[in-house]
Amino acid sequence: MDTSSLISSILSRSSLRRFTSEPVSDEAVQTLLHAAMAAPSSMNLQPWHFIVIRDEKLKLELRSCLPYAKMLKDGSIGIVVCGDTSLYERVNRMDGEDNTLYWVQDCSAASENLLLAAHALGLGAVWTGVYPLESRVSKLQELLRIPSSIVPLNLIVVGHPASSAKPMDKWDATKIHYEHF
Ligand SMILES: Cc1cc2nc3c(=O)[nH]c(=O)nc-3n(C[C@H](O)[C@H](O)[C@H](O)COP(=O)(O)O)c2cc1C
Repeated sequence: MDTSSLISSILSRSSLRRFTSEPVSDEAVQTLLHAAMAAPSSMNLQPWHFIVIRDEKLKLELRSCLPYAKMLKDGSIGIVVCGDTSLYERVNRMDGEDNTLYWVQDCSAASENLLLAAHALGLGAVWTGVYPLESRVSKLQELLRIPSSIVPLNLIVVGHPASSAKPMDKWDATKIHYEHF
């Protein structure tokens, strides 16, 4: 594995919000979803589902449901990352703990993989927030016919970048602690 190119990809990723009209290919979408599904997950339950949205009418409706997703236009597509909360019922009964919210962490890991894969393909992408805002969750469940046990975490907008973005340097040594906080 080329470690240095992986690390430089991680460090050079940034959110992109302006896209050209060039469509994102089906092949690229498959690669993004492969990368997303390679994420780690609690008890390897892989609770994720992905809804790929190319339809212009649905994109327009999503823009009106999600106040900070106005960049879902031009050639960009939407990928809604959702988590299946029903998978945890059995393990919760078995260990007497509530494991359900692990779906959020698992789907977040899948989302970051997807963002990094988009960057590696020369595409631009941005995570737009849905969960835990109940009004956004229920609007998306209705619009995209998502069953109630499946919760949309975010809408990731992916497209060909119309402009480049300079990644932020977020290194902050004061956030690092050794042995104790
Ligand atoms: C949970 C979460 C929710 C976010 N929601 C939005 C959003 O609704 N709209 C948006 O434009 N960016 C959103 N972002 C992207 C952040 O604004 C962005 O990651 C942050 O400003 C850091 O910039 P960078 O991604 O370029 O490093 C979200 C990111 C996360 C992790």
